[in-house]
Amino acid sequence: MAELYAIAILVKPKKAYTEEHTMEKIKIDAGAAFLYPMPMVLAGSVVDGKANFMAVGWVSRVNFKPPLVAIALGPHHTNKGIDENREFSINIPDVSLIEETDYCGLVSGKKTDKSGLFNVFFGELDKAPLIQECPVSISLSLFDAVKLPFNTLYIGEPKEVFTEEKYMTGNMLDIKKVNPFTLTMPDNQYWSIGENLGKAWSIGKSLKK
Ligand SMILES: Cc1cc2nc3c(=O)[nH]c(=O)nc-3n(C[C@H](O)[C@H](O)[C@H](O)COP(=O)(O)O)c2cc1C
Repeated sequence: MAELYAIAILVKPKKAYTEEHTMEKIKIDAGAAFLYPMPMVLAGSVVDGKANFMAVGWVSRVNFKPPLVAIALGPHHTNKGIDENREFSINIPDVSLIEETDYCGLVSGKKTDKSGLFNVFFGELDKAPLIQECPVSISLSLFDAVKLPFNTLYIGEPKEVFTEEKYMTGNMLDIKKVNPFTLTMPDNQYWSIGENLGKAWSIGKSLKK
């Protein structure tokens, strides 16, 4: 406990925070700097003529125009397909696919054939395998592959986004209907989506002078 106090920093809040927010900060391991939470997706590629899918939590939209989405992959079987074909897919599973998604993160296509796990379809990119059972599937062409010390950041340009009418409200995907799930690390837990808190680019207007 004494060690904990040694790294404690007293935060002087600028505004009237609640009791909870004025507590002393502690520092935790920098290796635990994960985003909190992370959306869970299944990345797909065609490797040696077979569709292969892996679980991915390190995924983000990274550019506005053109739209670009990136996944950070360690050295996996999936990479072989992306490197060779310069195409891949990102599929958003719903909570009913949690076991299949986890399985795709437990076993490698190198040893286990994962191609029969889902009903696979293709859009205009014939090396970007899409999952019928997922509410949202995106085919991407490889924009760039950035080698990082351990991972490769595969940046893809979405070509097509497939969904079904039942996941839409009006002309937009509806998160409640899609029912995706998220991941936290390093505790390695899955979480469902919580309550709506308000409208972004709007709720902060109350603080404008
Ligand atoms: C919840 C979860 C999240 C994962 N996220 C990533 C990730 O973001 N990047 C990565 O390289 N591997 C990630 N993995 C590990 C791969 O999914 C796993 O190594 C998989 O077996 C690779 O499949 P492949 O060898 O068939 O390509 C994750 C695994 C799980 C269970």
